[in-house]
Amino acid sequence: MTTTNQGNPDYRDSGLVFPPGFTFGSATASYQVEGAFDEDGRSPSIWDTFSKTPGKVWNGDTGDVACDHYHRLDSDLDLMKDLGLGAYRFSIAWPRIQPTASGEVNQAGIDFYARLVDGLLERGIRPVATLYHWDLPQYLEDAGGWAARATTDAFERYAKIMGAALGDRVHTWTTLNEPWCSAYLGYGQGGHAPGRSEPASALAAVHHLNLAHGRAVQALRATSSGDPEYSITLNFHVLRGVGDAAPEAMRRIDALANRAFTHPLLKGEYPADLLEDTASVTDWSFVHEGDLAAINQPIDVLGVNYYSTATVRLWDGVSPKQMNDGHKGTAGGTAWPGSDLAVEFVEQAGPYTAMGWNIAPEGLEELLVSLSAEFPDQPLMITENGAAFDDVVAADGSVPDPKRLDYLRRHFTAAHRAIERGVDLRGYFVWSLLDNFEWGYGYAKRFGIVRVDFDTLERTVKDSGLWYADLARTGVLPE
Ligand code: FCB
Repeated sequence: MTTTNQGNPDYRDSGLVFPPGFTFGSATASYQVEGAFDEDGRSPSIWDTFSKTPGKVWNGDTGDVACDHYHRLDSDLDLMKDLGLGAYRFSIAWPRIQPTASGEVNQAGIDFYARLVDGLLERGIRPVATLYHWDLPQYLEDAGGWAARATTDAFERYAKIMGAALGDRVHTWTTLNEPWCSAYLGYGQGGHAPGRSEPASALAAVHHLNLAHGRAVQALRATSSGDPEYSITLNFHVLRGVGDAAPEAMRRIDALANRAFTHPLLKGEYPADLLEDTASVTDWSFVHEGDLAAINQPIDVLGVNYYSTATVRLWDGVSPKQMNDGHKGTAGGTAWPGSDLAVEFVEQAGPYTAMGWNIAPEGLEELLVSLSAEFPDQPLMITENGAAFDDVVAADGSVPDPKRLDYLRRHFTAAHRAIERGVDLRGYFVWSLLDNFEWGYGYAKRFGIVRVDFDTLERTVKDSGLWYADLARTGVLPE
């Protein structure tokens, strides 16, 4: 691989050449972009309910319209082609496919995703489909949600339906996006739908999500008639620690946030220290015989989402903050407040994105290298990386976004350095194709490489999008 100015301490390289076949993609998720919340048979998800609950989402924003992607599918597909994307990572809205508790299939829902997949293939773009990016059908939450084992049975049935419907054409199946968020933010901290604050339920959700993944991989394999790849996407905590007890604080969060997923998924076991740490919260009796074998399915690629690092210290009990202002355990949060497990997430050095997340490209390199050391035979894919900044539209209508472009350059440089250090990294999906509904932050935070005017729904490729198109076309990190 040829490189130029390699070694810039700021990770601001250019001219780096990515390996042949490296996938340059972009990602979105159903609830964040589709809109059409009550059309063609779709029923409410937990995010419809949550966003319509006063005080839960900034400004009372909802995904009712979002980017209106559901109605603008063809022009959005053309946009992806113009950007030269090699792959598009999207998610399927489960409540479009099985809108009622009967589980009956809604053909209109299948048809939408079939049109999406066919439209991608016609344009030479690989479909990377996630079954679950957080929009659980509300009727399943009403029956216990991810805290209930029955939700894994329902997920397996849903996976069979999707495998049979699209398994001849999807390039990569991803079962779950960031089960950490679903479990801990949804059932523990409560800042995400369904908004429950029940520590024992959060750990039950961790296990049921892991199990749902394993069952879904088997169901997809049994029903997909093509030769798709199988994956799951995790968000990792790249940890730093402060204080005398830093190693202990880091170990606890590593167990809860990272190894609670990687070990059952890739090694077929829960870490002993995780079970010990959480013994006062749950006895883990929701883990049944045979579950770990079911979870531990071979996958072709492990999806890695990375935005920033996290710095922790053992909570001194003096400043009892709730873990309520960190989307991903960033500053101001406390894991297990009030318990002997308490660990505080402390403020980190800048610079920051508009989310308040610290910009740390070296954390991405470190994460990829450490995953590859721990799981040497497991190919990796960056399934999300990107940044929110407050964009300003120029007088000529263009959207210069130098900070986002710089963020991407630095993280692509980090990914390239990991490849040079021997990491089997297959591709990189920028979050996000479009500005969209950023969960609890509503439309206040813009991650897109394409701007969406939320009044007119008009799309404008930002400077970062033009830069990315150059990278995707040439495989060489542009100036
Ligand atoms: C990830 C989510 C994605 C988006 C980005 C910013 O946690 O998977 O939907 O919200 O963060």
